[in-house]
Amino acid sequence: MSQGIEGVTLEKIVSLCKRRGFIYQSAEIYGGLNGVYDTGHLGLLLKENLKAAWKKSVSLNHYTTLFIDGALLGHQEMWKASGHVSNFHDPMVDCLNCKKRYRTDDVDVSKSCPSCGEKKWTESRTFNLMFQTNLGANVDSSSVAYLRPETAQTIFVNFKNIYMPNRVKIPFGVGQIGKAFRNEITPKQFLFRMREFEQMELEWFCHPDRTDMFFELWLDERRKFYTKIGITATRIRLRQHSGDELSHYSKQTTDIEYHFPFGWKELEGIANRGDFDLSQHRTHSGKDCYISDEERNMSFIPNVIECSVGVDRLFLTVLFDAYCEDTVEDDTRIVLKLSPKIAPIKAAFFPLMKVFDKPMEEIFHKIKSSSSLSLLYDHSGSIGKRYRRSDEIGIPFCFTFDFESEETKTVTIRYRDTLAQERIGVDRINDFLIQECTL
Ligand code: GAP
Repeated sequence: MSQGIEGVTLEKIVSLCKRRGFIYQSAEIYGGLNGVYDTGHLGLLLKENLKAAWKKSVSLNHYTTLFIDGALLGHQEMWKASGHVSNFHDPMVDCLNCKKRYRTDDVDVSKSCPSCGEKKWTESRTFNLMFQTNLGANVDSSSVAYLRPETAQTIFVNFKNIYMPNRVKIPFGVGQIGKAFRNEITPKQFLFRMREFEQMELEWFCHPDRTDMFFELWLDERRKFYTKIGITATRIRLRQHSGDELSHYSKQTTDIEYHFPFGWKELEGIANRGDFDLSQHRTHSGKDCYISDEERNMSFIPNVIECSVGVDRLFLTVLFDAYCEDTVEDDTRIVLKLSPKIAPIKAAFFPLMKVFDKPMEEIFHKIKSSSSLSLLYDHSGSIGKRYRRSDEIGIPFCFTFDFESEETKTVTIRYRDTLAQERIGVDRINDFLIQECTL
């Protein structure tokens, strides 16, 4: 798929998202909540498609992947055991002049403050990113709970609850899509670093002897996923973490990075968590998490390979990757060249003129009732304007009922990316859409 990252800026993406109702800042009429966003209709459709694609991609042939939906509020002992209470910190510094606060790794403290230009900094110190709250009316140390900063821990603490009733065998995966919360010191770049966001995490439980093999397998699978949903392969790369970059739970991590306009940045992290999490919960809770290896007549704690990507960060990535501006009939058109497999709306149905409204509406309703695809009907404005509106939200196919349609039982199909037009039998539209748009 031809992509057009050249010339795209964060401002253009933010503006498109607001203008077309994909995503907007939360509580905007009150000045907005920093790092928190609300998702509109089109944004939700796109996110649902990304999530469905992800779910499919982590459900491999020949292996089982189960899915759970864990609680957002977490027991304080769980987050102590996981190491997040003592380790989930970012270093921060304050400008002594304007009092602005930064992540230390975002500003080189030998340089001047990006806000006021002064060069007077506090010492770098750490800040825990978890949102702490209290359960119930008593605010004391026993009522402390945390909003989860990753979905993964609700999988680990439920390991036996998941493993036993589902009668699965090692290796198997447990996937989860859900909200995570981090009190980021400086949320920035729109959906790139937020305070409330969604993660899609796969925890892959395997025998310790097969950890390296599965780490490689998942690197390969995850990389393939991004090209499958239409992201430009040359804008994706793998980068291995150096020892001092590794999270407290990780033995080995490789990031899948995307080449954003603001540089190569992490899109997904693939980590070998070893038996860190299960062992920590075993030690802290006293509940065992061994499983038996019947062949070798022994029991062991499974190792975990984790693949973790943010829904919102992926959403931002696909918008950057698909955004193009080109010239059509002396007019600049903005077009999102999203893969039909993830496009929020798969097809638009237009009557060329008002008189064709009735027969086109009939076709539209028939196709809508026989498929679960999201489709749009639009009869207002010139056909050119309708095309522009649909291009901007990434609709890959537009069908138009015109003068020949009645007699030939055909409509024109116009392809978003090439602008080519041809005729298609009305009775073929449904099959065509299913073939082009199904994952
Ligand atoms: N369970 C492992 C984990 O949470 P992470 O690298 O901290 O690892 C995984 O996060 C993914 O979640 C990232 O690659 C990114 O896509 C997404 N993510 C993390 N923090 C985020 C934030 N503040 N805003 C948006 N997405 C975020």
